[in-house]
Amino acid sequence: MERNEQISVTEEFVKQNLKGYDSGHDWWHIERVRKLALYINDAEELADPFIVEVTALLHDTADSKFAGDNIENGYSMIRDFMDKNGMSEIKDRVLNAIKNIPFSNNRKAGLIDDPLLLTVQDADRLDAIGAIGIARAFNYAGFRNNPIYFPGEESGNTGRSTIGHFNDKLLKLKNLMNTCTGRKIAEERYEILEKFLEQFYSEWYFIKDK
Ligand code: ADP
Ligand code: NI
Repeated sequence: MERNEQISVTEEFVKQNLKGYDSGHDWWHIERVRKLALYINDAEELADPFIVEVTALLHDTADSKFAGDNIENGYSMIRDFMDKNGMSEIKDRVLNAIKNIPFSNNRKAGLIDDPLLLTVQDADRLDAIGAIGIARAFNYAGFRNNPIYFPGEESGNTGRSTIGHFNDKLLKLKNLMNTCTGRKIAEERYEILEKFLEQFYSEWYFIKDK
């Protein structure tokens, strides 16, 4: 099977398996991550673009947030799919990257310094910050019916609201970037988060003439 054909069948496979996800994890998230990952990879000449593209496409197919205990089923589904479509050779490397990409894993298992993983992880994290990141956070919170904000939690007691999620995770992502190209984009997007929070607090506490 030609590589462009393998990309097409992977796109179809991913679309089929994203159906139960919230719209912050929809096909458009995958598209954005693919674009960002290919951009970073091109700028830094890290890995074969084909394997980067396949990994970006598949990176949320076995997401634990949605698959629950079935995450291993998700991984074997991906393995079967890759075997059937002539991608056995890259299967282990792709799976290793996918397992280590999520923030919550914080790089636990297997090979953690594969440039493939570092690139796609940066791309996934970039889609969680900036204007899109803000949209996704509130979208996810709406999906879970989480509160917008608990006053006082910005001082450290975080985690329960969406503004808490900014403090817990989103504001930290800039310093967790793996690549220089990713870090540069993250810095721009971090500024958007900061501006948003400043405005958010000033509206919440109604501070006039700050
Ligand atoms: P991914 O699934 O893309 O690897 P995450 O699981 O960290 O990444 O989160 C996906 C998206 O959902 C991100 O944009 C993140 O900000 C958002 N999200 C995850 N948990 C929460 C939460 N508790 N509150 C608000 N947004 C959240
Ligand atoms: Ni993702």
